[in-house]
Amino acid sequence: MLGKYKAFSLALYLVVAIVFFSTEASAVKSYLFRKCEENPFCKRNRHYADQISSLSQPWEAPYEIDISTLTGLKDGTLTANILKITATGDKVELPLTVKFLKSGSVRITVDEKIRADGDIEVYGSDKLQKRRYNTLDEWALDGHIENAQDSTIEVTQTDSEISIEYGNGNKVVFVAKPFEVKFYRNGETQVILNDRGLLNYEHWRPKPTGEDAKDPQIGPYELEEGLWEDKFDSKTDKKSKGPEAIALDVTFVDYKHVYGIPEHADKLSLRETRGGPGNHEQPYRLYNVDIFEYETNSPMAMYGSIPFMQAHKPSGSAGVFWLNSADTYVDIIKTKSNDEKVLNSKQSTQTHWISEAGLLDIFVFLGDSPEEINKLYSDVTGFLQLPQTFSIAYHQCRWNYNSQDDVLEVNDNFDKHDIPYDVIWLDIEYADEKKYFLWNKKVFPDPVDMLNELDTTKRKLVTINDPHIKADENYDIFNKVDKNGLAIQDAKGGSRKGHCWPGESIWIDTLSPKARQYWDSLFASGSEFAGAATNWHIWNDMNEPSVFSGPETTAYKDDIHFGGWEHREVHNVYGLTYHNATAEALKLRYSNAQRPFVLTRAYFAGSQRVGPMWTGDNMAKWEHLKIATPMILTSGVAGMPFAGADVGGFFENPSHELLTRWYQAGAFYPFFRGHAHIDSKRREPWVPGGEYTEAISSALKLRYKLLPTLYTAFQKSSVDGSPILKPVYYISPDNEDSFDVDDEFFVGDSGILVKPITDEGAISTNIYLPDEEIYYDYNNNDITLQGAGEHSYSAPLNTIPIVVRGGHIHVVRERERRSSTLMKYDPYTVVIYLNKDGNAEGSLYADDGETYNYADGEYLETKFKFEGTTLVSTPNNGEKLSKYLESLWIEKVVIVGYKGDVGSTVQVSQDETEKSAIVSKEGNVVVVKPRVAVASEFKIELGLN
Ligand code: NOJ
Repeated sequence: MLGKYKAFSLALYLVVAIVFFSTEASAVKSYLFRKCEENPFCKRNRHYADQISSLSQPWEAPYEIDISTLTGLKDGTLTANILKITATGDKVELPLTVKFLKSGSVRITVDEKIRADGDIEVYGSDKLQKRRYNTLDEWALDGHIENAQDSTIEVTQTDSEISIEYGNGNKVVFVAKPFEVKFYRNGETQVILNDRGLLNYEHWRPKPTGEDAKDPQIGPYELEEGLWEDKFDSKTDKKSKGPEAIALDVTFVDYKHVYGIPEHADKLSLRETRGGPGNHEQPYRLYNVDIFEYETNSPMAMYGSIPFMQAHKPSGSAGVFWLNSADTYVDIIKTKSNDEKVLNSKQSTQTHWISEAGLLDIFVFLGDSPEEINKLYSDVTGFLQLPQTFSIAYHQCRWNYNSQDDVLEVNDNFDKHDIPYDVIWLDIEYADEKKYFLWNKKVFPDPVDMLNELDTTKRKLVTINDPHIKADENYDIFNKVDKNGLAIQDAKGGSRKGHCWPGESIWIDTLSPKARQYWDSLFASGSEFAGAATNWHIWNDMNEPSVFSGPETTAYKDDIHFGGWEHREVHNVYGLTYHNATAEALKLRYSNAQRPFVLTRAYFAGSQRVGPMWTGDNMAKWEHLKIATPMILTSGVAGMPFAGADVGGFFENPSHELLTRWYQAGAFYPFFRGHAHIDSKRREPWVPGGEYTEAISSALKLRYKLLPTLYTAFQKSSVDGSPILKPVYYISPDNEDSFDVDDEFFVGDSGILVKPITDEGAISTNIYLPDEEIYYDYNNNDITLQGAGEHSYSAPLNTIPIVVRGGHIHVVRERERRSSTLMKYDPYTVVIYLNKDGNAEGSLYADDGETYNYADGEYLETKFKFEGTTLVSTPNNGEKLSKYLESLWIEKVVIVGYKGDVGSTVQVSQDETEKSAIVSKEGNVVVVKPRVAVASEFKIELGLN
């Protein structure tokens, strides 16, 4: 019996694996993934929208607030009932909760009373919850959200609407009938919910019985398709809880551009999705899937989902966070109102959000700038975890380094070629038959020794760890997870079995506290896998979860998780629960003495608190290099800034030129890792040789030089949610021409503007400057560019197009070392680029780069200001300064664009002592060697003698 089943499943696995992972055909298998019209809940809602938009009469949506149920404001919260009037005239109660947050945002939640009360019949496993999924807060939100004080909110009520003033200059009006919500800021309408009346809350109803039974609850513009059963690709989803989709339209008034909702391989400024030139035909989909060889410029779902959208216009910014972890589609259209006869001739963006299940739970953020929206969103979902310094240096990966000797040889080769790197990675082949936590001892006989060897040059090892567990009775982890019910369950109540790299597998259910506890034990210090090594870190892959044999390469929607939740309800957050379990396990392993590093492929809102993501299986093609920039920018806009793309392209072999250009772009990715498919040729930085290796090596050295600048940007993001790589419109929020520029970016607040070369054979490019400031050519400081618009820039193979905006100061480390940790005690160089008026400012943040001591005040933070002839530092350090922090010093100050004479010495004062320091000037660049400590205030005055 078993033998027959095994033989069948092996054959099935082979077919699946050949179809999925063959590198012959290089195109996404789009037939595996559902378009809106193939996914009934989406089809039903798009159809509803189409019907309503084509009506000649104004449409009155069948939802209203029962004003008599409105409660008084308490703890920043209002409640009332929304009533849905069904086709049969019944009134469905939908409890509405409106929370005003201390940070100045609003959360609107709509539940369904009958399900919340458990008064429904579930047509499947009795383990299933009856209510809609309501514990997403635990994963996605930061847990410290505070409601506003009632005294800061003013509520006015009439028979037909409730108007509330809150935050700084914000107002929201709830119109009772038909239900509509309008948000205002500074007197202007910003965001409207249910403006088009597309709210659709699929309420519970008894399952119609009999073959041809019609659902009497279906309204005039609704479809019946897939309400109770959903078939795709020969797989049937028995929808035990019936129809439960929710949909709502959100209009961003007078906003031409919207951004966010990663992950898609698409432009930064999102396209319309209802056809037309340059637009998509399909909505953007948010459904975490293993989409190998993905298409560029596509709205197809990818590995991660963040249902957060930002809108920006010159007069302000707005954001909407649709807190839902089920399969979701978002349609976008822009109103055509450029007609001058129309009173308000500005263009607006109309969006339509459709989710298969869960609560309707939406946050609305209003602000004056994109950064303000980032801050408000991060106040809700949490801030980026400040990473260890090594993790923002360079990572070397491939599928696979084949043995311990191979690893150590690659490690030595970096030194031989004088190229810095910090981390070497091991993909799935290290594990004995893909049984994670077990080494293939034939090729890795002494992993702890290998870890120690790497540690001699302060390098680290990352091993991959996937959520699938080989179904093998001789594998202890399988037995424990399977027997103790710690795996995702199928609808019948056993461990869900399916196929992944090891063959037949089960999947750890990290929604379960017991499963997480067990997970912790597997990473414990002293365990057989990595002994007590402290330079071991983790890569979480395939955690969408990827199930080769499952529908759309993932788990079945009717699988069941801890707590009785259907997979359908938690699908998009599962990857985060797994990522989080791993990071928590590492924290325990290291007794919180170092910050964990765990890379993830699948992610959701809130994943930024856990660790970085990368954009999955891209290809060694120029178009993939090009699309990586807007993808990483989008991730930053959506609060997940620690992001990267496989440098070189995962599938296929890049030409030497493509590889070089990719390293030059990658040197600025917040997460910077070279990676390649198992079938690709070796391509470590020294492999191409000659001018290519030279150019790659200098890109890597530039990355290491800029680490203090990047770390400062990471720290800022960890407290204000701002992107590490900033889209141009963040710097020029008033200049509409810059709103869809997405092929160049600024690095934090450093003023550094990079335009990666992404075209084969290109030896020059045009850099777009968004304003009238002076920009300096980073590669030749004597050249300046000025004037909003495009400027041609020569970029032969060894040149990265970089300019620096006048008025900014950034800090670098110039000594070349083998790894970032070895640079830890090196002195800094402060680089100043003067603006039109001869001034500049910037900052430096530093801590030990490893531990959480910064949280106890062990950090340095210094602002630098250059005015006229004087540089002043103003430290705002933490309370405790360690010996290490006190030892940090500035060796050099470089001032670019200085017009005056400097003489031969300058005056330096610090800690009430004065000294003179050597100064020199060449062209428009002044160099001072001041030898000052970073920790205390100093002043340098030019031109005194
Ligand atoms: C898929 C990942 O996206 C890729 O980076 C990795 O090399 C393979 N899985 C094998 O683990």
